[in-house]
Amino acid sequence: MSRQKIPVGILGATGAVGQRFIQLLADHPWFEIAVLTASDRSAGKRYVDAAKWLLRGGMPAAVEDMVLVPTAPEAIEADVRLLFSALPGSAAGQVESDLAAAGFAVCSNASAHRMDADVPLLIPDVNPEHTALIPVQQQARGWRDPVTSRGRGFIVTNPNCTTTHLVCALKPLYDAFGLTAVNVVSMQALSGAGYPGVPALDILDNVIPFIAGEESKLESEPQKLLGSLSEGRITPADFVVSAQANRVAVRNGHLEAVSVKLKRPARIEEVAEAFRAYRGEPQRLGLPSAPDPAIILHTADDRPQPRLDRLAGNGMATNVGRLRADPIFDYKFIVLGHNTIRGAAGGALLNAELLVSQGYLE
Ligand SMILES: NC(=O)c1ccc[n+]([C@@H]2O[C@H](COP(=O)([O-])OP(=O)(O)OC[C@H]3O[C@@H](n4cnc5c(N)ncnc54)[C@H](OP(=O)(O)O)[C@@H]3O)[C@@H](O)[C@H]2O)c1
Repeated sequence: MSRQKIPVGILGATGAVGQRFIQLLADHPWFEIAVLTASDRSAGKRYVDAAKWLLRGGMPAAVEDMVLVPTAPEAIEADVRLLFSALPGSAAGQVESDLAAAGFAVCSNASAHRMDADVPLLIPDVNPEHTALIPVQQQARGWRDPVTSRGRGFIVTNPNCTTTHLVCALKPLYDAFGLTAVNVVSMQALSGAGYPGVPALDILDNVIPFIAGEESKLESEPQKLLGSLSEGRITPADFVVSAQANRVAVRNGHLEAVSVKLKRPARIEEVAEAFRAYRGEPQRLGLPSAPDPAIILHTADDRPQPRLDRLAGNGMATNVGRLRADPIFDYKFIVLGHNTIRGAAGGALLNAELLVSQGYLE
């Protein structure tokens, strides 16, 4: 392993999101995979024997012979600084806390800690300043290095995959005009359910109008993300979200039909310009995984579409299209983004790049 790269681990490395982490980290300029974990069913096996590889381009050779270790602090070498978590929400809560207490920085996709008051729910394009919760968290939970008594381990989370692209699109509107109400109807890809996910006989020739737990996340995470941080506390943004989540027979890419009510009146050209002109902290810092532009505004009547547009900005960009006036709200538009790249592994990776640039991983 080259010395200048930060050694990282992937928790839940065999699953749909774990595989994306491996793919995105294979040639990363700052990070190098040092450890892979999975459940007790897979621990002790070689990665190539335990994982059914699902992504194009094949399994990176460097991980084939790595032996999966249990997801526990004692199984992970101390020189690993950063852990990316792709654990199921049900498994993540306690073990992510144990790992942070043991001194690891945990960048998690799981929902377990997202709404904890002292845990940043982070999209670097949206709320990079919320990382200031990290010392608050270390102080509150006593996560300090026993030798230096300085904070070391912590948890940072990224939002639900559908929330991520919704809030990336809402951010320029929130900043420029304010928001009072958002209505979102999602059409979510199969890979969002992990692997093997939804049975073929349930989803072929069908749409399933229910995804467990999804609507409550869409109705609560945006306000934390767009909330303001002061004196170690986040005050949630003051707007309401109504969400309906549907599973559709698309492999990758969540599409969302969004209507918004703005706080201040705006002409449609101003709304379009807010999307087009938006640049966030990742673009200003030139982070390795940052898409530029972060938001792609489509003008064709029939775009964006999952098959054509999900890989925009290497799967890290948010596509917006069909912007038009709404007779009940003010404006409506379509949002589309990749769920396992920006919505999961790529989102956590961008979080980690921000943490490096802010000095939290020294
Ligand atoms: N898929 C998406 O689009 C998406 C988007 C955003 C966020 N997320 C979140 O990301 C996480 C992973 O999702 P996924 O779709 O990749 O799930 P998945 O395909 O079911 O993979 C789960 C991974 O966790 C491991 N695991 C399961 N139970 C465990 C336990 N008790 N202890 C340790 N490891 C355990 C599995 O290992 P084995 O192979 O040994 O079973 C596997 O590596 C979830 O929290 C999910 O909500 C997913």
